[in-house]
Formats: sequence, structure tokens, C-alpha cells
Amino acid sequence: MERNEFIKSLGLGVALVCTGSCFSACGKKSDTPTPDPAGGGTPGTTASVDLSTQILTVGASLVVKSILFIRTATGNAASSFSATQAICPHQGGALSFIQASNYIQCSLHAARYTTAGSILAQPSDGGTTTALKVYPLTISGNTLTATT
Ligand code: FES
Repeated sequence: MERNEFIKSLGLGVALVCTGSCFSACGKKSDTPTPDPAGGGTPGTTASVDLSTQILTVGASLVVKSILFIRTATGNAASSFSATQAICPHQGGALSFIQASNYIQCSLHAARYTTAGSILAQPSDGGTTTALKVYPLTISGNTLTATT
């Protein structure tokens, strides 16, 4: 085999291997459920808070499984709490509750939301965001549970 022929055959072989691995990687389907790109975890996810030890005071908050739990009132009724997505719908920044200002704020572009998920301020980068998902809550004993 001439050197040129060898190099050509080698190049064709490498191209076939690369193409084949690319197609096989692109064609694979995942067996795991698709996470919610807007945050809040996979639909149907539940997250719980132990009310005997967690978010005991009004304004306290906690993130569990990408859900932001906020205590908005005294007492252990479901209406005393809010549960929203913990990931900003704009570009995925982490959300946290700012107790002193009584709003949820994004760490990335400072968009602000009410505890009911409504938009108070758009992102500082000139983009636009959407309202937060708010999840239904149930209480059983001292366990507060949100379901996405
Ligand atoms: S990612 Fe939250 S405001 Fe941009």
C-alpha cells in the first residue's frame, strides 16, 4: 500500500468512527424523567419541611429539592406558608427570600417576586422574567409538604 493510500484509508476510518459515535450518542434516550427547566424539580416531586425544627418564625425560609419554602404567618396551617420554585425562570439563578424586604430575589440579575410568585422587578440585565411557579401545600402533623 502506498503512503497516500494508507493515509486516505486511515482518514476515512477515523471519520466513520467519529460519525458513528456521534450518532449513537445523539440517539440515546434517557430513562430518567426530564427535570423542569424552570426549576422546582421533576413534576410530581414532593419536598417536606419538619415544622417542629424548621422555618419556625415568620420570614424564615428554606430550600428543599429546588422548592423555596417561606413562612408567611404564624401557626401551622398550610396558609401560613408559601412554596415556590427556587430557581429563577429568567436564566436559572438561585432565588432566596429577603425577609427584611418581604420579597424573593434572584442572585443573578436581581429580579424580585412576591411570596405568591408575582413579578415585582424585572432582571437587571434588561431581560424579562415570568412569574414563579407556586406549589400546593399540605400539612400532616408537623410535616409541611409541597408537590410540584
Ligand atoms: S436569572 Fe434570575 S434575574 Fe436573571
